[in-house]
This record gives sequence, C-alpha cells and structure tokens, in this order.
Amino acid sequence: MYNRCGRTVEIPFIHGRKEKQARISSPSPRVMRKATAIIRSGGIIAFPTETVYGLGADAFNPIAVARIFEAKNRPLFDPLIVHIADLSQLGALASVVDRRAGRLAGRFWPGPLTLVVPKSERVPDIVTAGLDTVAVRMPDHLIALDLIKGSGTPIAAPSANRFGYISPTKATHVLEQIGDRVDMIIDGGGCSVGVESTIIKIDGDRSVVLRPGGVPIEEIEAMIGPVETAPVTAGDPESPGRLPSHYSPRMPVFLASGIRDIDFSRSDAGFLLFRKPEFEVPVERTEILSVDGDLNEAAANLFSSLHHLDKMPIRAIIAEPVPEKGLGIAIMDRLRRAAHRGEGET
Ligand code: TXA
Ligand code: MG
Repeated sequence: MYNRCGRTVEIPFIHGRKEKQARISSPSPRVMRKATAIIRSGGIIAFPTETVYGLGADAFNPIAVARIFEAKNRPLFDPLIVHIADLSQLGALASVVDRRAGRLAGRFWPGPLTLVVPKSERVPDIVTAGLDTVAVRMPDHLIALDLIKGSGTPIAAPSANRFGYISPTKATHVLEQIGDRVDMIIDGGGCSVGVESTIIKIDGDRSVVLRPGGVPIEEIEAMIGPVETAPVTAGDPESPGRLPSHYSPRMPVFLASGIRDIDFSRSDAGFLLFRKPEFEVPVERTEILSVDGDLNEAAANLFSSLHHLDKMPIRAIIAEPVPEKGLGIAIMDRLRRAAHRGEGET
C-alpha cells in the first residue's frame, strides 16, 4: 500500500518566500513509525483524510494541541475535532453517547461525519475551547487510521491550512501554507471527498447541523428524522468556529447568480465553473469542477481549483453556483463564505 521512501520536493511558498527544501513524506512503514513517535512525543503532523488534510496532535496532550493553534494562527475559541480509529475510543472522549449518536456512528463511520457530544473530563479544555461538548470523527482513510492506531491515542486535528484560508486537499497545499511549522507532512495524494465533514450536534431531543459537509444532510435525515440548521453567525456559542467569512483565497471571490450572469470578457478575472458550458470560455483562466456536472466530483475538486485560481495573475475569482442538494449544499456553504469578503464584509 505504501511507497518505499520519503521524497523531497522544492516548491515556492505563496508569499514569494522560497523554502529551500521542505519534506513531504510518502507513507512507508518507516515513515509511519516515525510519525507515530512524533505524535507520542508531543509533535504535530499533517496527514491525509478522505475530506481534507488534517494537522494532528495527541488529543490528551494540551501542550501538543497548543502547537496546532500556533501553527495555524487559529484563535483559541475555535475548538478542534478529535479523530478516532475505533469505537472504543469514543467512550474515552464522550460522557454520554445517546441512541441517535450511536446509530449515526454505526452508519457513517468511518466517514465524513463529525458528532458533537457531551465531553468526558479527560478531554483537555484547549481541545474543546472550554465547551462541555467534544467533536469526534472516525476518518475513512487508511493512513489516518494507521496514524491514530499506531500512536495509541485519539488525534485532535483541524484542517491543515492557515486559519481562514482554503483547506488543503493535497500535501503540497499544506506545504505551501504551513510547511515550515509542522514536524512532518504525510502524502496521501488527493482527498477523495474534498470538502470537510458534516458536523452534527446531538443535544437532548435536538439534532443540529453545525456545518454541511461530506455526508449529505438528506442521508442523515433519512436515518434520524428532520435536523435543524445552525445559522452562520460569528461568535455563535453553539458553533464558535463557524465564521461567515472563511475558506477565503487571497483573491476576492464573487458568487454569480448563474452562468449567464458571468462576464467572460473580463480579462482580470478567473472563473470557477460547476460544469462545462455550451459556449467557449477563456480556458487558461477557467477551472471546471465537473465536466458533466457531478456534485461529488465537484466537491472533490473545489479547494484544489480555488488554490489553483488563487495563484494566477488575476484580480478576482467569479464562481458559478451549484445545485443545492447532496454535496452541493456543502459546496455552496464554502463558496458563500469564500465570497463573503468579496462583498466588502470581513
Ligand atoms: O473533515 C473534517 O472535519 C476535517 C478533517 C481534518 O477531519 N477537519 C476540520 O476541522 O474541518 P476544522 O477545525 O477545520 O473544523 C472543525 C469545526 C470548527 O468550525 C469548530 O468550530 C467545530 O468544528 N467544532 C469543533 N468542536 C466543536 C464543538 N464542541 N462544538 C461545536 N463546534 C465544534
Ligand atoms: Mg478548517
């Protein structure tokens, strides 16, 4: 499954800085042994999951977790997701796992679903930003699961990007943003889902979607009935990290109301399209998420396309909306928040 050895690549950093040589390691058995030793000794490691790359530390080591916040420039009020490799670890993190949480875990784990449940006393406050709940997920990725199992501890991990910037779906995205701040980057190729996990808070009788993501909300409702959707407001105590402006490229993003609304004659703009249009477009400045309009493929390509456009010599990114069903709900959530800055609000 794993390649034999780590490889060394040279990539220019985005702000014009050049790192001589930064390491991205292919996940050989030797690299995985080194990675688990790093986690056990309080280090931080970027690793692939099926959604996006995470930046992980031992969830029970508050000093290691603090290094994650520092590396990302992430505010301490924004709690982290704890990643587990088997269901017994949920018992160490949660004080209660009710029936609905158990059913969702049974159906969607390993997979792109995060459950917010009452936390046990063992979970350090820095992980949960002082909340009495903890977010837990079991990723559907062999490298992530091996890293958690080998380390012998749940791993707290946000997405491995600088705070507020586009999430990484390739090892090189991590390298470009925070490569000089992490102990190791494990390369697992491109992320198959491409948008972050769906976050559901199970709270008494209520089930609230705090973030749409890799598991379509329709599939969750089919299992546990109607769920509420949390409003996107800064400082919401229910979801403190859910900011209106997020996932932002350096370039302003404008969300068009439809393909016909996009002015393709603008030479200073790049275009992010859902599907291949029936007319000619400036190919060198256009990213097409899915030629045939497949929402799963579009989600897998979203962040990578934004990263690509953000490096072009243009002044704005104009995005076509996608249908709001299935993974389209998560894609539109990310596009709206990327566009928030473009509307002149910060
Ligand atoms: O797919 C994913 O979920 C990826 C991969 C690496 O697993 N992780 C990820 O983490 O997207 P992050 O930190 O970028 O986003 C986690 C979100 C934040 O908005 C945070 O506020 C929310 O989860 N969160 C974490 N713990 C919470 C809690 N106890 N209550 C409410 N929201 C919570
Ligand atoms: Mg994130």
